[in-house]
Amino acid sequence: MFEAPYPPWDFTERNSFAFETVIKRWPIILTGIIDNIYCRNHDFGVSLPSKSPEEAAVIEEQIAEGKKIINQVGQIKYDMARDRALPQIPEDGEALVDVYNAELDRLAEKKQNTWLTVPWLYSECYLYRLVRSFFVQTKYWKDHDPFLQQKEATFQKSSKAIFALATTMYELEGDKESLASDSDNLKVIFKEMIQMCLWGNATDLSMLTHLSHEDIQHLQTVGKDAQAARAQYILRDEQEKVWSHLTSLTGKKDSRVDFVLDNAGFELFTDFVFADFLVTYTPYVSKVVFHPKLIPWFVSDVTPPDFKSTTASLLSPTFFPEENTPADAPAATTSKESREHLYTMVKRWESYIQSGVFSLSVPIDYPLGASDVKANFWTSPYPYWNMEELAPELFADLRESSLVVLKGDLNFRKLTGDVQWPPSTPFETAIGPIAGKFPILSLRTNKADVIVAVDDDVAKKLDESGEKWRYNGKYAVVLFQPKVN
Ligand code: F6P
Ligand code: MG
Repeated sequence: MFEAPYPPWDFTERNSFAFETVIKRWPIILTGIIDNIYCRNHDFGVSLPSKSPEEAAVIEEQIAEGKKIINQVGQIKYDMARDRALPQIPEDGEALVDVYNAELDRLAEKKQNTWLTVPWLYSECYLYRLVRSFFVQTKYWKDHDPFLQQKEATFQKSSKAIFALATTMYELEGDKESLASDSDNLKVIFKEMIQMCLWGNATDLSMLTHLSHEDIQHLQTVGKDAQAARAQYILRDEQEKVWSHLTSLTGKKDSRVDFVLDNAGFELFTDFVFADFLVTYTPYVSKVVFHPKLIPWFVSDVTPPDFKSTTASLLSPTFFPEENTPADAPAATTSKESREHLYTMVKRWESYIQSGVFSLSVPIDYPLGASDVKANFWTSPYPYWNMEELAPELFADLRESSLVVLKGDLNFRKLTGDVQWPPSTPFETAIGPIAGKFPILSLRTNKADVIVAVDDDVAKKLDESGEKWRYNGKYAVVLFQPKVN
């Protein structure tokens, strides 16, 4: 098994984002879960008087189970603050219990099994799996996603950027013929698309514990000018390599792009737009497979139910509030028109889902917590280095892909093992044995301490500036590693 020559990021470094996470962010996230259950229980309570005795008995049981989950989540908060040992994940019948517990045993032997001594990557994945076990062990809360409401509310606030992008795609429709014969122009559009998809990762809910609606809209500004302004923040930009890789797929039958998804809502929307561009406007890609997480994960990650509801939400005439017409849309574009553009585009996505041009890597109706031999890997605590040994079926599947796009920060942390690489470490080195096994594209806005593929002097200057460039979400990397045959 591959082992990195550097230690992982953990909580011992007091200036790190890891430390800020355990001290500030996790308590906020856990409190959010408690609030969510509390509100649901409150609604159950309000409904009681109108119920029959049989119905009321069921609701009371639901409320009691909800209270139990609240206590369990509260207990983690308490233990964390006191640096207590992490408990074993209970045998709840869902995937990966053994994997998490075996690693916990190993950490206990090294005396690294308390909340402030565990490696950050392991403990954060463990946290979401532990929380999941509280829901799984109930009768009435198994299908409950404690982050769903938050995901949907933020999605609804993203309408401005969504309408603007729908209009951009509509305008592209008119240029379809000319684009087909003009590869230079196609490349220009490709670059806009890939950047739009990259910055779609800037808004994730586990980070947005303190941002306002206006802040979110600002982060989502789309269009050429906004992108040009942001280009300076891409610390390593390998878009050219990606484009030449894509063009090399010319004439290849059944070329498939895989998206290892990150966040639901606006980011998933940008993934769909990029995927749509690839299959509709370029001659290089015939199929796109999207890989979700099978349990509620890092607050905002896409689950199968999120994936399924996304197109329905986008098509619903009432999902987005009326007043959010794009201010930066062309003057002639009315709210009605941009809604129509969105409708046309999303109908096309639905037809792609029906025909298999777009597909989810697991059945689209999978409930939360269903197991899948390939998809389980994404919610394991493992870095991706040893995917071949740890998830051979997934590895074999990705070997067939023409391009694997890994979205977001957590995927980047797992690609690089979340260790303290010197910033100038080549991406190829940091991703260990999976380098060269399938074509990899990492689209990541920086939201954690780990960084690679950035010149040491650039990193040093940024470190000295005092700016929290490693994790404030303002900087990004676009990294490509080709397959070696
Ligand atoms: O909680 C920390 C973290 O893992 C960070 O890496 C990042 O802030 C977030 O969670 C996940 O980000 P993303 O949604 O881009 O994977
Ligand atoms: Mg995420």
